[in-house]
Amino acid sequence: MFETVCLDIPPLQAVAGSVRLPGSKSISNRVLLLAALCEMAGDQPTVLHDLLDSDDTRVMVAALAQLKEKSNETKKLFLGNAGTAMRPLTAALALRGGQTGGYELSGVARMHERPIGDLVDALRLLGCDIQYLGREGFPPLKIGEPKLKLDAPIRVRGDVSSQFLTALLLALPLVAAQDIHVDVVGELISKPYIDITIKLLARFGVTVRQQGWRRFTIPAGSQYTSPREIYVEADASSASYFVALGGLAARVDKPLQILGVGADSIQGDIKFIDAAAQMGVQVQSEANSLTVWRKDWDAASGQWSKSTGFLRAIDLDCNHIPDAAMTLAVMALYADGTTTLRNIASWRVKETDRISAMAAELRKLGATIDEGADYIRITPPSLNQWRFASIHTYDDHRMAMCASLAAFNPAGLPVRIEDPKCVAKTFPSYFEALFSVAQTTSKNIPVICIDGPTASGKGTLASLVAKQLGYHYLDSGALYRLVGFAATQAGVDLDDELAVATVASQMLIGFDADRVSLNGSDATNDIRSEASGMLASKVSSYPAVRQALLDRQLGFRKLPGLVADGRDMGTVIFPDAPLKVFLTANAQTRAQRRYKQLISKGISASIDALCADLEARDARDQSRSAAPLVAAKDALQLDNSNLTIEDSVAQVLSWWSSRFAPSQL
Ligand code: DC
Repeated sequence: MFETVCLDIPPLQAVAGSVRLPGSKSISNRVLLLAALCEMAGDQPTVLHDLLDSDDTRVMVAALAQLKEKSNETKKLFLGNAGTAMRPLTAALALRGGQTGGYELSGVARMHERPIGDLVDALRLLGCDIQYLGREGFPPLKIGEPKLKLDAPIRVRGDVSSQFLTALLLALPLVAAQDIHVDVVGELISKPYIDITIKLLARFGVTVRQQGWRRFTIPAGSQYTSPREIYVEADASSASYFVALGGLAARVDKPLQILGVGADSIQGDIKFIDAAAQMGVQVQSEANSLTVWRKDWDAASGQWSKSTGFLRAIDLDCNHIPDAAMTLAVMALYADGTTTLRNIASWRVKETDRISAMAAELRKLGATIDEGADYIRITPPSLNQWRFASIHTYDDHRMAMCASLAAFNPAGLPVRIEDPKCVAKTFPSYFEALFSVAQTTSKNIPVICIDGPTASGKGTLASLVAKQLGYHYLDSGALYRLVGFAATQAGVDLDDELAVATVASQMLIGFDADRVSLNGSDATNDIRSEASGMLASKVSSYPAVRQALLDRQLGFRKLPGLVADGRDMGTVIFPDAPLKVFLTANAQTRAQRRYKQLISKGISASIDALCADLEARDARDQSRSAAPLVAAKDALQLDNSNLTIEDSVAQVLSWWSSRFAPSQL
């Protein structure tokens, strides 16, 4: 239940550095299938390098593994929302047959709303046995044994999804005893995806003959042969967000470098860089990388010369870059006039109806939008029309990634992204990659402080709030515990303040998920004992030790935000934090909680002794002269003696929600 439901991104100001992008989804799912088909035909296994690991590739891998298992029953394949798995597998299994109980192909609810009728019609004409298990024209499907008739040319519509043609081209070499012709009916959309298919087929030994974009022929005797090894290039559609980021906020002297995809790419979406360049983004492409920056950096004043309208508005036919064109729609918010993106009807049948989704969300940000069956027109907000928005993402990875570009708005407003985890479809680490290159002033980076006495439940509360918000987490108590432990280990006299402070500044520490390390060795359990709590309380009363730990604590304030727990987070370390919570619980309740904790770890304890210890530690923490435990003046009090942990998390999140964008929500 404590998954990140919303990601609150503070206003961002710059990007710099480099990112290596994950593998291309289109290439990954094609080569997975091709390698599997080779193996099924008795050829060598193929080693796939740099394969994308995402929801869509996982469903493909799982389906292929299921196909390998021997059984006579109906094989039920669940393909999530991956069009790149559903379409080619339908064609391959329908043409190949070979399963006594047949196959059932299904997906998530949205997959069952994405058309597949044109592909099924084409396959039925070839003698394939495919039934609709739900609505006519849509998955789920039941596939039986084919009775193939391959003489007549196959006709397939090209104007709904190029994946229908791709599916046929990938599957037909399985049955190419004679020349097989595929004729495209209607204007073929997304041609670059067909190019990828044809190039990859060639790598697997099948040379498709092409007459323009109308007729494709699989030559008689075509057979898959494994290339033994294949490298997957980085995803060009994923690159579009970083090209945009560079164009919005990278300085010429600190450009953004995008590694893994460049001018040599076989992916059609690489053409996005031409569209971005038309908008004024500065892009330099190498064979396998891109360098990007924004034009108008003024070195003399150390500022951008324009705050709004620094990109050029465009009017573009986007048929050749359907996915990456979504990124242009958000870049249009920074343009000097109205941008029109045309020939994008396919947006309406993707993960969601992307034209109406984009229109709704850009309107929330303050833009004026006009939409039609196959176009979207975006007029950017003026400086004072920009609005804080909670962006709905429609379970569409591209909506979430696109929305993050709004955080560079000239009005300095934060952006909330709902269900950010949906990026897992193609780019699970998108936000980590974004925050590895994005920059803003430290005061823009939100901190939620949770201070309070020992065993009040700060750690549990703070780490859950951090998880829910996708923010970093600082357990400052662990730092003092580490100092006490490190000093004892080093044989340092704990009454010698300066010697202990030297240990504090020199110790090498690491926080990784729930583990803590000291000088390279795991110290998680060592610092959790009651004894080390007492040592921590002692060393934390030394001003020199507190000073030595100051910078380390400030260093945790990183994008997209921080939840920090301790005694002086709100009073001393992060006095400008937008939300401070002072968490209390009566001594008896705290002693009982600690008792349960210790017993569950197999450590014996007595409630009375614990209660006395806690009171002694509180007294020391409150009465010390250096950063005593007191509530910050602007802290909100939360007594959790009678609250469940879920109640406490909900309370803090609700306070946070109104603090993050106070005047707007
Ligand atoms: O929260 P905890 O029990 O892990 O903290 C261990 C000790 O460290 C506690 O006695 C007080 C001290 N401490 C502190 O002085 N300042 C902090 N910010 C955090 C902990």
